[in-house]
Amino acid sequence: MLKALAAVACCSFVSLGLFVPSPVSAQTAVRPQPDRQQWYLNAGKMTYVVGVNEQGILQSLYWGPKLSDRGLVPVAKSLPERASQYAPAATTPQEYPAFGAGIFPETALKVNSPNGDRTLILKYESAKVTGSQLEIVLKDTQEPLRVHLYYQTFPEGVLARWSRIENTGKGSFGIENAASATWNLPAGTGYTHRWLTGMWGGEFQLNEEPLKTGKSVQESRTGHTSHEANPWFSIGKEEQTTEEAGPVWFGELGWSGNWQIVTEYTSLRQPRVTGGYNPFDFHWTLAGGASLETPKFYAGYTDGGDGEASRILSQLQLREILPKRGEAREPKPRPIIYNSWEATEMNFTGETQIALAERAAKVGVERFVIDDGWFGKRDDDHAGLGDWTITPKKFPQGLKPVIDRVHALGMDFGIWVEPEMVNPDSDLYRQHPEWAMQFPNREHSEERHQLMLNLARPDVKEWMFNWLDKLVSENDIAFLKWDYNRIWSEPGWNMAPGSSPTHPNPDAEKAIYLEAVRNLYDVIDQLRAKHPKLEIESCSSGGGRVDLGILERTDEVWPSDNTDALDRQDIQFGYTQAYTSQTMVAWVTDVPSMDHRMVPLQYRFVVAMQGALGIGANLTKFSDADLALSAKLTEFYKTVRTTVQQGRLYRLASPLTGDPSQMEYVAEDGSQAVLLALQHSQRLRLPYPTVRLRGIDPDAMYRLRPLDPEKYTGEEVVSGSVLMDAGVNLKLEGDYDSTALVLERLP
Ligand code: GLA
Repeated sequence: MLKALAAVACCSFVSLGLFVPSPVSAQTAVRPQPDRQQWYLNAGKMTYVVGVNEQGILQSLYWGPKLSDRGLVPVAKSLPERASQYAPAATTPQEYPAFGAGIFPETALKVNSPNGDRTLILKYESAKVTGSQLEIVLKDTQEPLRVHLYYQTFPEGVLARWSRIENTGKGSFGIENAASATWNLPAGTGYTHRWLTGMWGGEFQLNEEPLKTGKSVQESRTGHTSHEANPWFSIGKEEQTTEEAGPVWFGELGWSGNWQIVTEYTSLRQPRVTGGYNPFDFHWTLAGGASLETPKFYAGYTDGGDGEASRILSQLQLREILPKRGEAREPKPRPIIYNSWEATEMNFTGETQIALAERAAKVGVERFVIDDGWFGKRDDDHAGLGDWTITPKKFPQGLKPVIDRVHALGMDFGIWVEPEMVNPDSDLYRQHPEWAMQFPNREHSEERHQLMLNLARPDVKEWMFNWLDKLVSENDIAFLKWDYNRIWSEPGWNMAPGSSPTHPNPDAEKAIYLEAVRNLYDVIDQLRAKHPKLEIESCSSGGGRVDLGILERTDEVWPSDNTDALDRQDIQFGYTQAYTSQTMVAWVTDVPSMDHRMVPLQYRFVVAMQGALGIGANLTKFSDADLALSAKLTEFYKTVRTTVQQGRLYRLASPLTGDPSQMEYVAEDGSQAVLLALQHSQRLRLPYPTVRLRGIDPDAMYRLRPLDPEKYTGEEVVSGSVLMDAGVNLKLEGDYDSTALVLERLP
């Protein structure tokens, strides 16, 4: 019934019948229908259709479940004028609406022509299919401006869209707003909107509300992806969409600078999502012959509910986005990290790090990471950023003896860097004050006693690559934790092309927003090309830089500085809506936590096992019993790591709605499943609720391997259908109890 409703909801783009029998070619990723001026894009279980209407405007025609290869939707037709207040241009679901005749909803593009014309009317010019990619070219009716729209289909069930704005004339255009795409959903009622917001120490908070008439704007103005909001959206239908079923339209952007996603519900009940560069303080001068490309905006549709939407994004990230080494389809699972930050902060020496490394190795850690404090005059956060030389006071013989010892203990070595920042108290700043982001006649504002370097400058970019390359070349470093601990202020750049110290040009200087991010990407790409085995974690005071742009070139993410086991569940629950568990690094740390909470060690471990397990506790203070328990739990995690990090995630019970909270992961080949079960607090002596598993084979038999045999006393071999329909009973009692259950499919 749910699916039938979903199908009806999806097809109301067009008022006529959906399945028009007609012979068409065998189903492929891109299926052009030239005689109908239509293009059918198939991605996994989704189809997306665009077409050119009688006025030559490109329209969105369909976004929903996969159409049969005989399915044709009605040809594009602009909507009639409803009243004099609505030009058809404003109500017709345009694929890439430019500010022009009659557009009042959100536009994807706004450009000023050299002759003063501030409008555009983009009409279809040509289309080209290359493999699984479609390019449609639109041309303005008056000005020498073309817009190339790109569509890349992915078999996981996602379509990436982006645009390239090309100036084919001689004069310069000024771009005020350039989105990657506008996604039109079927007109209708009863939509719900979900999005992620946050703060330092509380990233990835999931919001859900009915989609209301008007606009909901999620954005970053911080210069980076930001803690405040994450570039992901999801739209479902009230009374239909749940975690397990129902229609979901969802998407996320690949851009690590200022971004914006506007989710709009027009008065005519048309949902539209427009996203790309943030128009805030934006300007791009498009010289004659030049092009501006927008970031990729990925989106998908499923009728499998919010859970399936997350699983599709996870598969996309594992197979298409994250860096891979060698021929494997997925990147290799994450090693278990020990990071010394919470244990020592900057107060350490090589000797104290070695003491931690020795304990970490005993517990089963595979990668030892020294965090902030190893360079320059870095004893606290007032000084040193920018001076990336090893501090002799802490490492009299350099890093080599520590790295050698870490290797001898069977681990590889990683180190913390924050390349885009400088402390005014640093040799770098004393030498190059002009490298800091600035308006020369205005005071800088410091955050955490540091300034932003202006990475848009070619000299800063070159310096950055050189010292990173030297650090990695001269030391056996497997991993960088790449941090970014403040947001932008004073975003001036009077050396920008088109500006100068004597004739500053504010519009030209705004190129800083794009150039700084492009150069960041270039530096990472060059570094990885030169050091192909190097792995990188994206961190920004926790989860301030998580998006598909940075994930194309980094291997994992530090989602939050908040490692409290209770808070962390909310953060991780939100994180997994949009990103794969493989990237979600989670450390077990000491108690009392940031929230002054005392939580047993096993509970902290089981929470951290929801992603890429790591340890950040001060192991030199651990009792023998805690070390033994840590070693046991780390060993257990290794037996399920690939399933947790790369399997299909079923969020069985949400921490947001109270007790209990449960995550289940099913290996891609179905051979293993893992249940992580948590109880926050015991009430009324009630038993732990029966847990019904999901996503396993009902006809298969599974051998059950409990982490704690006393907490699962059921039968050892159980059928998939019993596990899913009757469920399993666990003996979780008291406050902060936890356990795990592994299901191994029998042949
Ligand atoms: C940020 C990171 C932390 C740690 C500190 C070091 O806050 O999020 O994990 O690396 O910087 O200064």
